[in-house]
Amino acid sequence: MAPIAAADIPTLNLLYKLKKLDTSSSPSPKRASDHNDRVGLIRADITSLAVDAIVNAANKSLLGGGGVDGAIHRAAGPQLLSECRTLNGCETGSSKITDAYNLPCKKVIHTVGPIYDEIRPERSKASLQSCYKSSLELAVQHGLKTVAFSAISTGIYGYPSGEAAMVACEAVASFLDGDDGKKLDKVIFVTFEEKDVRAYNQALPRFFPPAAETSAYQGMNAESDPDEGDQAEAKAEAEAKANQLPSVPTTDPADPSRTQKKQKQDTEA
Ligand code: APR
Repeated sequence: MAPIAAADIPTLNLLYKLKKLDTSSSPSPKRASDHNDRVGLIRADITSLAVDAIVNAANKSLLGGGGVDGAIHRAAGPQLLSECRTLNGCETGSSKITDAYNLPCKKVIHTVGPIYDEIRPERSKASLQSCYKSSLELAVQHGLKTVAFSAISTGIYGYPSGEAAMVACEAVASFLDGDDGKKLDKVIFVTFEEKDVRAYNQALPRFFPPAAETSAYQGMNAESDPDEGDQAEAKAEAEAKANQLPSVPTTDPADPSRTQKKQKQDTEA
C-alpha cells in the first residue's frame, strides 16, 4: 500500500463538511473547537502513514507482541527490535521513542497502555490519559509535528472502545489547549476495527465540536444557500479529497494470513 501523507489525512473540519461525522452527539456548541483543522481521523493501517511519528500500543517489555505492536515491528524490520532492546522496557502510562527503520514515518513512539481493570476503571483511565500526554510530550521534545495514534489498549488489553475514545479525545484536546500543543501541526486518530470507528465517531464531536455554521451547513442544501455556488464548490472539493482515502483494512495487513482474532488467541495462549 502506498504511504499516506499527513496532508492527505482528513481533518475534522473536512469530515464535518462532508457529513462523515455525525454531530448529533456534540452538545449544542457555543463555539467550535479551535483544533478542528489540526485533528485528523483515518481508518487505516498505521504502518502506512508517512507522518512524523506513529504511536504504538506496546507492552512493558517493548519487545514486540501481537496487534498493532506486531504489525509495526513486522513493517519496521528487525532493527526496531534491536533498538527497543536498549531501552530497558517502559512503565504503564509512559512512552519511549525509537527510529522507524523501514516504516514510512520518521519515528515510533511506544506507549504502554493499561490492561483494563473493571474493578478500578479510574486507575485505567489515569494510565490511558498518561499514554496520550507522555506521547505528545515526547513528540514535542523531538520537534515532531504530525503524530498518529492507534487506539491504545482497546485490543488485547481490553479497554472498552467507547470509553477509551473519550479518554483519548479529552487528553489530546487538553494537550492542544496548552502551550506545547501549539507546537504540533496535526494529531491523528487511527481506527482499525469497526468498534473503534464507531467509538471515535461518537467521541470526536463531543470534544471537538464543529462550528455552528458547519452544523447549519449540514442542514443546508444548495438551493437554500444564497451563495450556493461557493458551498457546492467547497463540497465538491471536499468530496474529491475524501474519495482519495485508502480502502479500509480488514485484517492485519502486515501479516494477512493471520486475522486479529488469531493474533489475540496467540497472545493469550
Ligand atoms: N493499524 C492500526 N491499528 C491497528 C493495527 C494496524 N495495523 N492493528 C491493530 N490495530 C488496532 C486494534 O484494532 C486496536 O484498536 O490497535 C488497537 C490496539 O490493540 P492492540 O494492538 O491489541 O493493543 P493493546 O490493546 O494496547 O494491547 C497491547 O498487545 O500486541 C500486544 O505487545 C502488545 O502486549 C501488548 C498488548
